[in-house]
Amino acid sequence: MLSETMQNAFNNQLNAEMFSSNLYLSMAAYLESINLPGFAHWMEIQAQEELGHALKIYKYINERRGRAWVRGVESPQGTWNSPLEVFEHALKHEQYVTASINKLVEMATLEKDTASQVFLHWFVNEQVEEEKNADSIVQQLKMIGSSVGALLVLDHHLGKREAAAE
Ligand code: FEO
Repeated sequence: MLSETMQNAFNNQLNAEMFSSNLYLSMAAYLESINLPGFAHWMEIQAQEELGHALKIYKYINERRGRAWVRGVESPQGTWNSPLEVFEHALKHEQYVTASINKLVEMATLEKDTASQVFLHWFVNEQVEEEKNADSIVQQLKMIGSSVGALLVLDHHLGKREAAAE
């Protein structure tokens, strides 16, 4: 059974993942509005993945006989000044999520909750991937600078992103 401390912490993370999903869908909407459908598609897949993270946590709370709570999330930012600004924000957000996953791991360790530590390993690995993905697009956008042609090539490439298997 999940301790109350862990239950509260997992519920907070559940809420944070749902916020992430909305944030990325909001970024997708902005990217669509500036005629970058490939970038928007990449962000839509990201929004779906975040919802998947939320569901993973929701199911885990239930499996451990805890009580999952679905709460409202704050409105995400709705507009940015450039695709680079969007991806810099996404990278910063992922770094914030990584810190909160690390806190959960620390808490599970303090609580001697081995099952939660093992469960959280998936998220630790996922965060390495998520930060790397956002950072590599930031770097590419910096290289592109003001070249519209190169931006459209990257847009085409990002439009091919497929949904993750999980
Ligand atoms: Fe669910 Fe992007 O972290």
